[in-house]
Amino acid sequence: MKGIILAGGSGSRLAPSTNSINKHLLAVYDKPMIYYPLSVLMLAGIKEIMIISTESDKQRFEDLLGDGSSFGISLTYREQVNPNGIPEALIIGEKFIGKDDVTLILGDNIFYGQGFTNILRNAIQNHNDATIFGYRVKDPKRFGVVEFDQHQKVVSLEEKPIEPKSDFAVTGLYIYDNKSIKIAKKLNFSERGELEITDVNKEYLKRDQLNVQLLGRGFAWMDAGTHESLYEASEFVRNIQQRQGFKLACLEEIAFYMGYMTRESLYEKGKSMEKNDYGQYLMEIANRKHTQQYWDSIDRNPVLGLVENE
Ligand code: G1P
Repeated sequence: MKGIILAGGSGSRLAPSTNSINKHLLAVYDKPMIYYPLSVLMLAGIKEIMIISTESDKQRFEDLLGDGSSFGISLTYREQVNPNGIPEALIIGEKFIGKDDVTLILGDNIFYGQGFTNILRNAIQNHNDATIFGYRVKDPKRFGVVEFDQHQKVVSLEEKPIEPKSDFAVTGLYIYDNKSIKIAKKLNFSERGELEITDVNKEYLKRDQLNVQLLGRGFAWMDAGTHESLYEASEFVRNIQQRQGFKLACLEEIAFYMGYMTRESLYEKGKSMEKNDYGQYLMEIANRKHTQQYWDSIDRNPVLGLVENE
């Protein structure tokens, strides 16, 4: 399974903040936005990841994350020259995907909820064809919308409908088999001048090959693409972190717990940022000696199959 993060687009909804920088590099509270989708792919166990961004920002992403080896993953970078829509990521990533399946995630989507790693891993392990995730929202008009019949079978999919047939938005996380590339290549541009991911999903639906998994009410899904939603996402992350003392989407923490990073390198990375809370957090984790009871209590060990990384 390969992973792709689409971090392109003009970010015009966040201007002027995005006039000189890609929106996915803006901070959601204490870390760049791209950390959040990247953490999702890492938690899913995906190690080969391509980041697709704009021509002018590709280098900045590389400066931030490098080749991924410090997190125990492999990162490659490509550009999307024009904002032609989400499915273009599958076409740009064709060689990279090769004969594999692919999990595509949008760079401004933030997922948070207990057991998410399990949901994701199960979805990847048991998936064939296509799996997408539905989430109830107050303003479905802003999203792709999925409609179900009384047996929870999908009946329709619509992109930003004026009159939504349900309250279920399709989140920006898509698990596809290899034929998604061919499907993407055959799409026509929509009225808004883009290739639409909803059209890819509709094609799978037509073939009766679309699985929709619902994320329940105990779950948080946010996009951070407008001033308001970016602020709300930052506030959400801050609240959880301040209350629990755990960080969300801390790539080094995930890498350490996944066994990709040694305690020493975690400490060193923390030390390089020791003047701030992020660096101190890494140093603190590196210094901890946890008991099995501790792992059980934070619901991490069973999920990640973690052992202390001595
Ligand atoms: C895109 C998709 C839409 C999906 C949304 C999730 O919307 O087209 O189907 O629900 O991402 O964030 P856009 O970001 O283009 O408005």
